[in-house]
Amino acid sequence: MESFVVEGGRRLEGSLRVDGAKNAALPILAACVLTEDEVTLHGMPDITDVHRMTDILCMLGCSVQREGHDMVVSGREMCRSEMPDGLSKQIRSSIFMLGPILSRFRQATVTYPGGCEIGMRPIDLHLSGLRALGVAVQEEGGVIHCDGAAMHAGEVHLDYPSVGATENVMMAAATLPGETVIHNAAREPEVADLAAFMNACGARVAGAGSAVITVTGVRRLHGAAYTPMADRIVAGTLLAAAAITGGDVCLTGAPAGHMHAINAKLREMGCDVAEDADVIRLTSPVRLRAFPLLQTQPHPGFPTDMQAQMLALLTTAQGTGVVVENVFENRFTHAGEMNRMGARILCAGRTAIVHGVSRLTGAQVTARDLRGGAALVLAGLAAEGETRVDNAAIIDRGYERLERQLSALGAEIRREHAL
Ligand code: UD1
Repeated sequence: MESFVVEGGRRLEGSLRVDGAKNAALPILAACVLTEDEVTLHGMPDITDVHRMTDILCMLGCSVQREGHDMVVSGREMCRSEMPDGLSKQIRSSIFMLGPILSRFRQATVTYPGGCEIGMRPIDLHLSGLRALGVAVQEEGGVIHCDGAAMHAGEVHLDYPSVGATENVMMAAATLPGETVIHNAAREPEVADLAAFMNACGARVAGAGSAVITVTGVRRLHGAAYTPMADRIVAGTLLAAAAITGGDVCLTGAPAGHMHAINAKLREMGCDVAEDADVIRLTSPVRLRAFPLLQTQPHPGFPTDMQAQMLALLTTAQGTGVVVENVFENRFTHAGEMNRMGARILCAGRTAIVHGVSRLTGAQVTARDLRGGAALVLAGLAAEGETRVDNAAIIDRGYERLERQLSALGAEIRREHAL
């Protein structure tokens, strides 16, 4: 097992370029199988979730070449419509393969996906969306068989604007003759990025980024070269790291236009956040002040993937702040770990109340989910003494060598292998 060891108390300063977005890269990789032609992807984040997705593509018979942050994917030789069981359980995004495989083979078999332990994360919305397109779904023993022989374009209404379900239906509909309309679609910018990629491959997707998406089926998709959008959550995490250390950091290549909710909260805490095109500069006060309330919501509300990092900021802020997690039902596992560092957080159901303390102290803590793990690293940056965050692997799922990024800004952090 690997851990991050953080020596707290260093003020972060400097400039860093933001990586490509995990949540754009993963569905885009899945969408590569919509075409038999070669797809070239630039600026792909070097994170383990992308590695696992690549493994899945290879197991299905695709060829994937990677050089640095560039990837070339070819689905020409793809031969299987069954998802490998072990890998599906390791990564929730494996469910994204359902739509593209159905589009390609008109049948697909997947096992229930895995992912972070942040809630039940059912896939009923994915399945009901596909059923609305004429897919016959049979579930038995944790395996889902989808028969798409009678697939057709149609009207899909999602009971909740699920990001993954929206993306799956969009991909499944790409080659269905006629017009598919997705109502109550997720409005996350990564959904729009997937649509832009699909359109670069010849698909006809309109309205992505709004609550109504129209997919006009085309006969076939072709290859393309594409660069996924930058990661707003990685950017937000780095800004939060600067904020918790009283720092002054500049991010380049940042998706500033999609970070209003995050930047507004940072300003509420007393940070100066200046945006200029794709550059964001954050200057932090000596001590942050608590915001009264943060509620996570689907986009354009405050992103659940930044909740844990904001909770970390509250731990040492002046005053008391309340955080309500509306998207996932079990996303406060980091709170107990932060309390081991001297934080004062009370959790009840989906609500956390954080009383800011004047200092945290280093401790040995465990990362239990991706963003919660990153938040523990942030707490470590602000704590007195040494903090050891165990289970670094879960953080590597979504951050490319976080220790290097933070070190580049002046943090004292290293990766250690457990003895
Ligand atoms: C995506 C992101 C994840 C982010 C989340 C919410 C990727 C790879 N992951 O996950 O980082 O935290 O959006 O912004 O893009 N739900 C159901 N039934 C379903 C599907 C979802 O009840 O069929 C529920 C989930 O349990 C959850 C909520 O809907 O409570 C939101 O999930 P969803 O938007 O689907 O998130 P993901 O696509 O899994």
